Amino acid sequence: MATGNRSYNLLSKLFHWVSAIIIIGLIVVGQMMENMEGPEKFELMGLHKSFGVLILLVLFARVINRFTNPVDDVAGISAMNAKLAKAGHGLLYLCIILMPVSGILMSQSGGHGVEMFGLALPTFVGESEALGGVAHAVHGLASKALIVLIIGHAGAALYHHFVLKDATLKRMTHGS
Ligand code: HEM
Ligand code: HEM
Repeated sequence: MATGNRSYNLLSKLFHWVSAIIIIGLIVVGQMMENMEGPEKFELMGLHKSFGVLILLVLFARVINRFTNPVDDVAGISAMNAKLAKAGHGLLYLCIILMPVSGILMSQSGGHGVEMFGLALPTFVGESEALGGVAHAVHGLASKALIVLIIGHAGAALYHHFVLKDATLKRMTHGS
């Protein structure tokens, strides 16, 4: 059923690709931080936090843009595949919320402030070892889930493009 546009609008495409690059960078830097110590680790952590909070802010704008600009299912795709794609995207969005929220809670419950490029965030929670433990576990688990989802997601996009030769990837790049 036609409900919206055939392709993503320019803003959706920009949000998607800028967020994708930042999120992949955050995963790489997150893993690197795990094996570091000393001032270098804290420098990298400051950047990790700033870009992580930025992703959460961008997500608000992204969701508003997405709901005000609905997109049709890819032409010729089965109802089952369309549902699967929506479920996959839903899980990606869930991880994009869980990662920064758990990161902020993990930092603040450990008694550390959170800044986004020098701009201090309000304190949402006080020091708590229990909350810190949960937030840390969520951050680690959701990051593993995110890695699996991204691999499946990018793999599916490439499969659509090169094997099925449909418009799936094009409508997130230069298709109209
Ligand atoms: C989309 C956003 C984010 C992504 C994808 C991300 C990803 C990651 C990853 C992959 C790790 C390594 C985890 C592990 O291997 O166990 C990590 C660690 C960490 N992240 Fe994030 N992160 C994000 C946002 C944030 C935010 C907003 C904060 C804080 C304000 C934050 C604070 C931390 C801290 C403190 C660690 C180190 C935890 C430790 O010492 O074990 N992250 N992050
Ligand atoms: C790295 C290679 C990537 C490729 C080739 C790619 C490709 C695509 C394509 C073609 C779509 C549109 C799918 C459709 O029309 O049904 C899409 C949507 C989406 N992608 Fe990616 N993507 C990549 C990375 C990422 C990353 C890293 C994330 C976030 C973690 C992400 C999150 C999303 C989300 C949430 C949507 C749904 C957009 C919406 O309908 O609201 N993507 N991607």
